Amino acid sequence: MNTALSTPIACEPIRPTRVVPSLSEDVARGLFGAPRTLPPKYFYDERGSLLFDRICDVPEYYPTRTESALLQRIAREVIETARPERIVELGSGTSRKTRHLFDACAELECHPTYAPVDVCDEVLVASGEALSGDYPWLDVRPLVGDYTAGLGNLPRRATRNLVVFLGGTIGNFTREQATDFLRELRAMLAPGDTLLLGADRVKQPDVLHAAYNDDAGLTAEFNLNLLRVLNRELGADFDLDAFEHYALFNPLESRIEMHLIAMRDQTVTFEGLHDSLHLREGENILTEISRKFTRAQLESMLEDAGLRVVRHYEADAHKFSLVLAEPD
Ligand code: SAH
Ligand code: AVI
Repeated sequence: MNTALSTPIACEPIRPTRVVPSLSEDVARGLFGAPRTLPPKYFYDERGSLLFDRICDVPEYYPTRTESALLQRIAREVIETARPERIVELGSGTSRKTRHLFDACAELECHPTYAPVDVCDEVLVASGEALSGDYPWLDVRPLVGDYTAGLGNLPRRATRNLVVFLGGTIGNFTREQATDFLRELRAMLAPGDTLLLGADRVKQPDVLHAAYNDDAGLTAEFNLNLLRVLNRELGADFDLDAFEHYALFNPLESRIEMHLIAMRDQTVTFEGLHDSLHLREGENILTEISRKFTRAQLESMLEDAGLRVVRHYEADAHKFSLVLAEPD
């Protein structure tokens, strides 16, 4: 990355189209309900985003390098097909894989603007500056906010928007959330616009298990980071040593489930909340699901949302999919 030539980058907030619960409302509903759960967006403060970026490099976490190799292979064809005037990336993180698209754009002399969208402003700024240094032609306009608060106010070009949603992040939604999200995405696409969706595929449970239980313990750190966020943002007093990371593949739901397990009976207090949280030894908090799809499931999910599959690209051994779709 060339940071020496970087330009200062500012993030614009996304105007939500609907009210979404605040962190304390999500905690009140999710942690005090059954099953105990929280939306995965809260992992991604600056520390969580950087931890995720490190997970991408551990040998067991195959999705990033698999999707990256696939994207590198198909990038030219995607850009030739989409001919984008604007690339909007949802949940862009460090945009590391998106660079394959920018390389293809440079080769094809196609110079779209780039609107990365993420909840983490620190990562948007750092990545935006690095990208501006490395791709001087690229006009980077980061947008900070929650994409589940609605996509209707995202800036678009009149024509030829390429919306990119990588990493398998669609798998972090339940089936219903994913369908609603894709329908909303479909509604923002006009003729000439395209969607590039990355999704992880079902595979041997031991490979999946290892990917979410890396030996270096980074996934465990990432999972526990959620409690750090609650301690900082809500004045909670979670003792991180009193919880363990637990991730398993649930074949009935075809998804990884990430949990935090209480290692002893405990009571957690929150400055901002009236109630205390009582946890028994062995009780779990479901912190993330990560769904793994078949080719047919992916295509029918897109079709149900009114999106027509233009090309379905698969990594070796069908480990990962990148699907190029357009409004039908
Ligand atoms: N696309 C990148 C990063 C995936 S990690 C990759 O493929 O490697 C998921 C990213 O989505 C994180 O950067 C996180 O901050 C962002 N994210 C998660 N939930 C979000 C939400 N509700 N709104 C906006 N961004 C979100
Ligand atoms: C961002 N998302 C697709 C990752 C995944 O694999 O579900 C988040 C992650 N959780 C644990 N490791 C990585």
